Amino acid sequence: MTLLKVENLTKRFGGLVANDDVSMYVERGEIVGLIGPNGAGKSTFFSTVSGYYRPDGGKVYFDGEDITGLPTEKVCLRGMTRTFQIVKPFSDMTVLENVMVGAFARSARVSEVRDRALEVLEFVGLADRRDFPAAGLTIANKKRLELARALATEPKLLMLDEVMAGLTPRETQEAVELIHRIHERGITLFIVEHVMEVIMPISDRVYVLDGGRKIAEGPPQEIAENEEVIKAYLGERYHAARG
Ligand SMILES: Nc1ncnc2c1ncn2[C@@H]1O[C@H](COP(=O)(O)OP(=O)(O)OP(=O)(O)O)[C@@H](O)[C@H]1O
Ligand SMILES: [Mg+2]
Repeated sequence: MTLLKVENLTKRFGGLVANDDVSMYVERGEIVGLIGPNGAGKSTFFSTVSGYYRPDGGKVYFDGEDITGLPTEKVCLRGMTRTFQIVKPFSDMTVLENVMVGAFARSARVSEVRDRALEVLEFVGLADRRDFPAAGLTIANKKRLELARALATEPKLLMLDEVMAGLTPRETQEAVELIHRIHERGITLFIVEHVMEVIMPISDRVYVLDGGRKIAEGPPQEIAENEEVIKAYLGERYHAARG
């Protein structure tokens, strides 16, 4: 069953068309990758789909309902949450308080919210940092915190924007394992990522944006062999699936 359906989405910044007539869908239970060169419009697409920006054209359907133009907090309540490429925790709040902010989306009872936040911190492996100020975390842990805050809103669809950027190979491996565990919880995933060795193996399907336009979609194996994608983006950077 289709969880997210985006039809002909267009988003402009002045004269720049950041998303040009883009259509994509995500089935419930899938892991879908979104790739493309810098400035292709990937983050803008996530922002427009999740209600952070209003689209200039097109439709967004989530869980069978038209949510086009709905503000981001309402979209979140319906079960769609995204993380940001640039992590922005509330720096002077503790790790636990940051996650509680996410959990307040589902409950107004502080004790319930706290329990939920603690459970999520345990799940992402940040429980021992719960009373530290978020500002003091390493990059890898800030990324975990961003994930925890998103998970605390109890999403059906979680959209991850470069959660692995800037991580060491070992931290990347841990992040991949965490993503698998999130998926095992029944959460559908839509992932923007530049690390091909990560995104290609975990995705059921992959979309490619270039200059705001969708230039390809399909299983990772097919995408890795697509001439237009290789020319626009992959170049020599990814051989694993091409052999
Ligand atoms: N708020 C904004 N105002 C004006 N232009 C913007 C804004 N956000 C993005 N853009 C422009 O829109 C285009 C798409 O940017 P976007 O951040 O969506 O690309 P991206 O695919 O996420 O790139 P990257 O891989 O570098 O994160 C770029 O040309 C960018 O400069
Ligand atoms: Mg981006």
